[in-house]
Amino acid sequence: MKKVVFSGVQPTGKLTLGNYLGAIRNWGQFQDDYECIYCVVDLHSITVKRVPAELRRQTYETLALYIACGIDPQKSILFVQSHVPAHAELTWVLNTITYVGEMNRMTQFKDKSSKHADNINMGLMDYPVLMASDILLYKTDLVPIGADQKQHLEIARDIAIRFNAQYSDTFTVPDGYIPKVGAKIMSLQQPTQKMSKSDENEKASIYLLDDADAIVRKFRSAVTDSDGEVRFDEVNKPGISNLLGIYSLLSDKTIDEAEIEFANCGYSVFKDAVADAVIQKLAPIQAEQKRLLDDKDYLTEIMRQGAEKANCLARKTLSKVYRKVGFIQL
Ligand code: TRP
Repeated sequence: MKKVVFSGVQPTGKLTLGNYLGAIRNWGQFQDDYECIYCVVDLHSITVKRVPAELRRQTYETLALYIACGIDPQKSILFVQSHVPAHAELTWVLNTITYVGEMNRMTQFKDKSSKHADNINMGLMDYPVLMASDILLYKTDLVPIGADQKQHLEIARDIAIRFNAQYSDTFTVPDGYIPKVGAKIMSLQQPTQKMSKSDENEKASIYLLDDADAIVRKFRSAVTDSDGEVRFDEVNKPGISNLLGIYSLLSDKTIDEAEIEFANCGYSVFKDAVADAVIQKLAPIQAEQKRLLDDKDYLTEIMRQGAEKANCLARKTLSKVYRKVGFIQL
């Protein structure tokens, strides 16, 4: 039996270089050795206000991106969360063993509450429990995530352990997989903050659908420092360090090699080189994503097949959970 990998991305806003380097790019490598399950988490995405037509479009875009990034629907299960009702159903049960205090302490909840102060809804607070359901339904062993999701993964583990203790062994306790470099791509304008798809400043993020001009422009205006040396030092030179990280990931060179390559070169040459590496990497992905989006029927068929496979696995776990908590099975 292969071990299970599960991960997901929200179909919100425009996906960024951070989503790609920190998450989706790493997913393909597991496909041969693991049973991989990759989800477009649309239920999560309505915890902030969404325009329905946009959500629908971005769900297709996210799925197309998964495939364009090398996730093969023949090898991995690709599906949309709302197509598998067990996610919402398991969340209800897990809610009853999760404490309000724990959810209140979640960094992302506090963050989003302050950003959307007019819409601090129950779903926003419950977000980590839904994420735990995603993971636990499939007996997941490994969860590749960006560094910002570490706290949510911890909660998923706590919930699994707690359920197992209370109702006997049911869930696999998952491990996180957080890549060392690339886990956190920072904003180009405020390099001490994560590059976020919900950032209002367009210049802060590279979007996966940005054209070459936009990419060059954004890197040229990236915030750096004034000492003029291309050197990795996250504390004193967060901007340059972020650019070095991006360059290193895209060129498959180490940070040390990149530092040597750009020693004595000046920031503007360096920034253009980073932009160029990004453009070279994104161009084929963008072309493939666009090609896929022109064939909605194909994407819908992938969703349908993925939903069927995921449903089958998820139902089994849910029915075990229902039995354990004392619900009558007909
Ligand atoms: N919360 C994750 C994010 O915003 C997305 C997500 C939802 C997820 N469910 C998941 C990631 C399960 C890994 C596993 O990035």
